[in-house]
Amino acid sequence: MSAGTALVTGASSGIGLAIARSLATRGFDLVLVARREDRLQALAHELSAAASITVTVVAADLATPEGTDVVVEAVGDREIDVVVNNAGAGWIGLFHQAPAARQLEIVDINCRALVALTRAFLPGMIARGRGHVVQIASVGGFMPGPRAATYYASKAFVVSHSEALRHELEDTGVAITLVCPGPVATEFQRSSGVKGTMGGAAAMSDVDVAEASVEGMLQRRFLVVPGAPNRLLIALTRVLPRRLAAALVDRLQKKRLAAEPQ
Ligand SMILES: NC(=O)c1ccc[n+]([C@@H]2O[C@H](COP(=O)([O-])OP(=O)(O)OC[C@H]3O[C@@H](n4cnc5c(N)ncnc54)[C@H](OP(=O)(O)O)[C@@H]3O)[C@@H](O)[C@H]2O)c1
Repeated sequence: MSAGTALVTGASSGIGLAIARSLATRGFDLVLVARREDRLQALAHELSAAASITVTVVAADLATPEGTDVVVEAVGDREIDVVVNNAGAGWIGLFHQAPAARQLEIVDINCRALVALTRAFLPGMIARGRGHVVQIASVGGFMPGPRAATYYASKAFVVSHSEALRHELEDTGVAITLVCPGPVATEFQRSSGVKGTMGGAAAMSDVDVAEASVEGMLQRRFLVVPGAPNRLLIALTRVLPRRLAAALVDRLQKKRLAAEPQ
């Protein structure tokens, strides 16, 4: 029997792909969303053969309002029990030098699409008295992020939005899980303009982050911060003055970028 239907955005690589695999092994039917349809089709083929589940592929550009409309239309009347808003984009570099279009794309994917899809599927979950929203944010959501200002701010939006929804969803039967990873070894570094690996040895694997996310969701936990150093970092941001936090992140980013192989 199916565990329900989960919609996962950004399922073509990294954390989203690993979350899709993890949900498939737990018996969830899947709706996979991203732009690279060939990758989604290959994953759908793999998962439906291995786990006897139904997998639907939706190719959509979540940086556009049309893209989120395509997802909602493709789902139609189907009941969605879990929404995983994982698709995300970033950019490393000084704000005034970074491409303006990319900065706006970060806001559109990380914030606007997350709001649109959560808003689209939440009423059905509340009406049924069950369901789960999983928002993939970042430790960056807890601090200002010089040299990745828009990315950090977009994740701060997700943190605040999720904290508010947690309160609104009390007693509805619907739960929300906010996942805040630190550096994870995925394609994200390359697409964010980092030449090399971010986080070095401290970077976690996408599979470990996905497992922590799905386990946290199944246990109906609100905050999931994979990795003890990342939990410590978030605890520190609660006592550190914001200006000092900004200066520390700036130093870290500078060092990190200087250390990248060119
Ligand atoms: N990697 C890290 O260090 C790290 C740390 C903390 C938080 N996170 C967060 O984790 C989430 C997943 O990132 P990841 O590390 O797994 O990166 P990734 O491997 O680059 O995956 C990003 C996913 O988002 C999708 N995506 C990007 N732009 C899109 C668009 N315009 N429309 C639809 N889908 C789009 C990509 O699919 P297509 O390219 O096929 O569209 C891909 O499936 C993001 O929200 C990121 O902010 C990552």
